[in-house]
Amino acid sequence: MTDLAEGSGDGFPTDEHWAAEVRRLAGERDAVILAHNYQVPEIQDVADHVGDSLALSRLAAASTAGTIVFAGVYFMAETAKILAPDRTVLIPDARAGCSLADSITAEQARAWKAEHPGAAVVAYVNTSAEVKAEADVCCTSANAAEIVASIPPEREVLFLPDQFLGAHVRRQTGRDNLHVWLGECHVHAGISPADLRRKAEADAGAELFIHPECGCATPALWQAGTGDLPAGRTRVLSTGGMLAAARNTRASSVLVATETGMLHQLRQANPAVRWEPVNPDAVCRFMKMITPAALLRCLREGTDEVRVDPGVAARARRAVTAMIGAGEPGAGE
Ligand code: 13P
Ligand code: SF4
Repeated sequence: MTDLAEGSGDGFPTDEHWAAEVRRLAGERDAVILAHNYQVPEIQDVADHVGDSLALSRLAAASTAGTIVFAGVYFMAETAKILAPDRTVLIPDARAGCSLADSITAEQARAWKAEHPGAAVVAYVNTSAEVKAEADVCCTSANAAEIVASIPPEREVLFLPDQFLGAHVRRQTGRDNLHVWLGECHVHAGISPADLRRKAEADAGAELFIHPECGCATPALWQAGTGDLPAGRTRVLSTGGMLAAARNTRASSVLVATETGMLHQLRQANPAVRWEPVNPDAVCRFMKMITPAALLRCLREGTDEVRVDPGVAARARRAVTAMIGAGEPGAGE
């Protein structure tokens, strides 16, 4: 259990009674609690599983529990429902959206496809079910490059909606026929190259772990190439990839460019390392809508239930099933 003094930030007491009640109600409902790495520490600690988008999608697909409680944002719970249509999927607060998923609608995706007939559409998992239904395959940051590389090289690719992940995938695959939608996550776009440079200069021995959604990811690799950042110690990783790298790092400090919820898992994985956020204000307000109070209410009242139109879900399922079949858990470099 997290230090109780840390609290949940919303004044709700998350003591051992809260945790015991969450576990009791989950048992009563035959519910598995899946929590994303960006959740508040108390929720990470009480969950059955904590992970990145890819790992949690795989767990949802494989779970035999009658109810899946998804402590994350709405597109993640929707993906779980697409993969486990016969299960009840609950999210503690259905208002927990995602600025990146909101950066493209299904109508916009269809219009883009019409401009590029024959192109393969690769949709990042941070999209609505309706947008996934327009895709050939989905991906997460842990397997995006591998999925794009599996598409015949002569076929055009439309990659949506994240411009920074798209640029990273283009660099990794060396494809110049990859078109990228100009969406972004407001949290990761706000972690600037200047923040990174300043922190790296102040801690010259530190390793850098950078999520590919960050606005600073491409400049960082470029700066690593010119020697302005430490070349061997600058790594672009999914949240699952960061955790795998945390267990093996030999650095005494690591600067982390992603949502700050990630630090809880990293600190647990390797307490000997000093884990420092590149931007301590990189907090996703949507992820933080899943409060301890909301989780309790969700388990007591069976709300909010996630529903996906069966026709949309059937079309999206092909793309999402292809996603969970590709890439090793914890990959993403
Ligand atoms: P991961 O796929 O690395 O878990 O990231 C999900 C996300 O929303 C990043 O902002
Ligand atoms: Fe969406 Fe960004 Fe929040 Fe991730 S951090 S859930 S991409 S708004």
